[in-house]
Amino acid sequence: MTQDELKKQSALAALDYIEGGIIGVGTGSTVNHFIDGLATIKHRIDGAVSSSEVSSARLRQHGITVYDLNDVGQLSVYVDGADEANDRLQLIKGGGGALTREKIVAAASAKFVCIADASKRVAVLGSFPLPVEVIPMARSYVARQLVQLGGTPVWREGFISDNGNPILDIHGLAVHDPVALEQQINQIVGVVTVGLFAQRPADVLLLGAAGGVETIT
Ligand code: A5P
Repeated sequence: MTQDELKKQSALAALDYIEGGIIGVGTGSTVNHFIDGLATIKHRIDGAVSSSEVSSARLRQHGITVYDLNDVGQLSVYVDGADEANDRLQLIKGGGGALTREKIVAAASAKFVCIADASKRVAVLGSFPLPVEVIPMARSYVARQLVQLGGTPVWREGFISDNGNPILDIHGLAVHDPVALEQQINQIVGVVTVGLFAQRPADVLLLGAAGGVETIT
């Protein structure tokens, strides 16, 4: 099976976790498969809150109503992909640049179901460059602080998030204590969001592999 077929397999397995109401929907190529699958059961939900303009457009194309998070209460479930996941279901996210809204929608959801192909599973987070969204004027300042933490931040040049902010990708980190690093980076003035999902990890990880979908909780 191709990597894309494995992504699709995990995405479709997440449909079993949809119980109705308004759900949270993330961003990325795996989530695109989920959105297409969701369209086949859209009569079972009242709509969605999305973590990006791209996902909102795809949801609307399928006739699924997209709500502003401010207009709804707690979401029952959030389905999103990841760039890396460890066995504690802590994640690196933000390869697509939607990390801030992803973290907000995850926080506002009772359950976070993460979908990915099995290549995303790692023993130690950090081989994938860790994204950090920053306030524009703080970009260089934050980069210098991140160097102090032992990483090599690289400005994702030419990219601006849906919130109008630049992103630094930190290379060369081995994240042995994800919760502590998330807290440390959150404390740097000018940081909007770090793409470490450790304080609020996923609740369920669905990994698409050649032998089927593995469910990790
Ligand atoms: C988007 O900002 C990311 O957090 C994605 O969830 C992550 O990059 C996974 O993307 P794919 O599903 O395309 O691998």
